[in-house]
Amino acid sequence: MLRAARTAPSRGNRIFDLMSGMWLKAIGYGREEIARAVFEAMKKITFNPWGMTSEYTIRLSVKLASLAPDKQSRVFLVSGGSEANETALKMAKKYHAIRKEPGRYKVVSRRGSYHGNTHATMALGGGGVAIPWDYGPLQPGNFHSPQPFKFRCAFCKGRNECSLECADEVERAIIAEGPHTVAAFTDCFAQSSSSATSARMSAFRKKPRCERSSTQSCLSAAS
Ligand SMILES: Cc1ncc(COP(=O)(O)O)c(C=O)c1O
Repeated sequence: MLRAARTAPSRGNRIFDLMSGMWLKAIGYGREEIARAVFEAMKKITFNPWGMTSEYTIRLSVKLASLAPDKQSRVFLVSGGSEANETALKMAKKYHAIRKEPGRYKVVSRRGSYHGNTHATMALGGGGVAIPWDYGPLQPGNFHSPQPFKFRCAFCKGRNECSLECADEVERAIIAEGPHTVAAFTDCFAQSSSSATSARMSAFRKKPRCERSSTQSCLSAAS
């Protein structure tokens, strides 16, 4: 696997990609069997109109569901991380609309997180490493709470122990906005946008509080 993860030689140097692209090329670059499988698939189907399915869609969906903790999981295939998060936002809002609560459209997320480069996903991050100054108003209805990371934590500065204030802040944000107006909360277990940190898991365990505040859907942005 190490060999496969190397990129092509450049100016005589051999480069070992420790990041595996953006953590998604662990299988390595230029794998012939994958290129061949894509070629074979494209000979059979080159376009799949919306609402239709194909042999490949079905096979991949069955495989993904078989790997998921819930084997009855449904699969909605999209083209990448930004679209996955956009879709998750839409699903959360649609869910509430179908439940006859269309007033639940707000989303609480972590300030400085990265969820993609479309307008809605930039709004989820709300500033941090890449502050979206230049794009005018982003998606309205987004509210931010602080990150659950020890590094430069505003709550735990100078303290040895985590106060879990970052978890309480999520609940406070939901209550401040009105629980009946909040559709979802979204978060990441690991962040690269704020210096490759992993979250305090205790903060995640505290999260069901947003269910207590009747927000119903807690999205996990695992794209
Ligand atoms: C957590 C997270 N969400 C969303 C995205 C966006 O994915 P994409 O570039 O496929 O749109 C990324 C990309 O790095 C990401 O790390």
